[in-house]
Amino acid sequence: MCGIVGYVGARNVPSVLLGSLWRLEYRGYDSSGIAVISNSELIVRKVPGKLSELEELIKRKPVSGELGIGHTRWATHGVPQENNTHPLLDCNEEVALVVNGIIENYLTLKDELEAKGHIFRSLTDSEVIVHLIEQNISKGLTEAVRLTVKKLTGNFAFAAIRIGENKEIVCARHDAPLICCYNAEEAAVASDTSGVVSIFDEVIDIPNDSIVILGRGTCSILNFQGRETKTTPRKVMIEVKDIDKGHFPTFMLKEIYEQPKVLHNIVKERTSDSQIQLGAELSLSEAELKKISRILIQACGTSWHAGLIGKYIIEKFARIHTEVDISSEFRYRDAVLDNDTLVMAISQSGETADTIAGLREAKVKFLKVLSVVNVLQSSIHRESDGIIEIMAGPEIGVASTKAYTAEIVNLYFLALYLGRLRGFVSKTQLKEHFAALMEMPDQVEQILRLDNDIKDIAKEFCNSRDFLFLGRGLNYATALEGALKLKEISYINATGYAAGEMKHGPIALIDDKMPVVCVNPRSSVYDKMLNNIQEVVARKGIPISIVTKGDQRTRGASKYAISIPACHECISPILSVIPLQLLAHHIAALKGLDVDRPRNLAKSVTVE
Ligand code: G6P
Repeated sequence: MCGIVGYVGARNVPSVLLGSLWRLEYRGYDSSGIAVISNSELIVRKVPGKLSELEELIKRKPVSGELGIGHTRWATHGVPQENNTHPLLDCNEEVALVVNGIIENYLTLKDELEAKGHIFRSLTDSEVIVHLIEQNISKGLTEAVRLTVKKLTGNFAFAAIRIGENKEIVCARHDAPLICCYNAEEAAVASDTSGVVSIFDEVIDIPNDSIVILGRGTCSILNFQGRETKTTPRKVMIEVKDIDKGHFPTFMLKEIYEQPKVLHNIVKERTSDSQIQLGAELSLSEAELKKISRILIQACGTSWHAGLIGKYIIEKFARIHTEVDISSEFRYRDAVLDNDTLVMAISQSGETADTIAGLREAKVKFLKVLSVVNVLQSSIHRESDGIIEIMAGPEIGVASTKAYTAEIVNLYFLALYLGRLRGFVSKTQLKEHFAALMEMPDQVEQILRLDNDIKDIAKEFCNSRDFLFLGRGLNYATALEGALKLKEISYINATGYAAGEMKHGPIALIDDKMPVVCVNPRSSVYDKMLNNIQEVVARKGIPISIVTKGDQRTRGASKYAISIPACHECISPILSVIPLQLLAHHIAALKGLDVDRPRNLAKSVTVE
């Protein structure tokens, strides 16, 4: 969480910082600020609230300088108010600091520093860093940072500037993402590539446990012992247009509409030469994959829902016992993991703290980790033995949409691949699956054409207090995902449930005001689900069903029905979720909410 940026060079420093912060805003948006050094003055502008308020403040009270740092915050310690907003300053207001991460031993450090006379102005855990730097500042900023990182436990990435050292930004990272870039005249640092995309076309992934000193056209990277580290820059693969809303009112809607293209590209890539191509970075040999007797998938949020679908299809196609865990549970539950277990992580951002911790848990036990990850060179990418790239392109909307369907389709290919290896999927069956998958992007396109109908349903229910989402089998995960989408952006209480389990509790909630979204495309559990819909009707609930085109039985039992094209049962979670994404989007938009920046959430959850 939190986005940090820094820039040194001849451009207009505040506007470069603001531009970068806009692109990192998805990491957190409850307050923001910048600090610049101009001659021997340190100038800070910071404000609780959205980034637009910082922009306004800078318009009213302009600043300029030779270098600067900036921050967009997702509060962990201390409510979003000015004193807790970064940049944070030392007692002498000589050093400014922006931090992403959590300092776990901050209370002990704070006690020690206060005993030495340091005055704290914020309730943040991060403030200890700037006072620790201050302790050793007579040795210069770089050395002070080096001595500081030794005292910190937790995960962090930070950037600091100091009056008197007007040419350099000093940064450090430990277990939190940070990239930097430089050319002959300028240099920058950011939490991720999108922060620098408009200026630089090459970036350096700062190795873990490094200190970086950036100047105009210079960059040196040291390890925590102070020895120089060699790094190789990589090309920036995204363009400004990839992280621009275009003509869409929200990133979420743009990303929903991008799904046909994204899914088409994945299917094309994964089926080239009529073989399953899982990509060069799978890095696990056929022999290693054949040996697997069990798969343990761990992930968070929407990626966990994709994992639930992964379990069904891996077990179905490859007959490998598969378990799915929420990462924050897996990491602490001392799971039984034997040598033949393959641990998988699924993550759009590749930076989710609990998922990284789960991955490390597996590595400590010498198990192979295969990750399904969207952001290349993210921590999860770098720490896994092999990866399957999600290939969804940058996803900015906090509510994940295209990354979710792209995760499912990649898991589908993995399941088929393992099924082929183990002899459970024949050549003919593979051909049939390929044909179904190739048809799928066009089917998604057809569902998007129902957008206006879905908007009408949204109008009808945007003032509902509660929603229930029901599904069975593969579409149990769709129900969970539909409910998550709705609650996270519209703040309506939405519960996703396995329909068969409804009678053990949630049925008590149903009355004539309760919209119940019932996901019931044609499947092996179709009739069972239809019975559950009847149970909803009998309690005067209002079924809004997802049905296969031509299905009159579910349609007849429902108040509203949204049709999806007929498809293979294993493709149905991809198609069924599209109307639910649109429904959630439109309800939130009709309620006048900020769809892309939902309250209290962030896109990249880098804290436990
Ligand atoms: C946050 C995001 C969700 C995402 C989850 C897991 O909660 O808001 O959209 O599903 O993190 O993120 P990951 O990047 O690991 O998939």
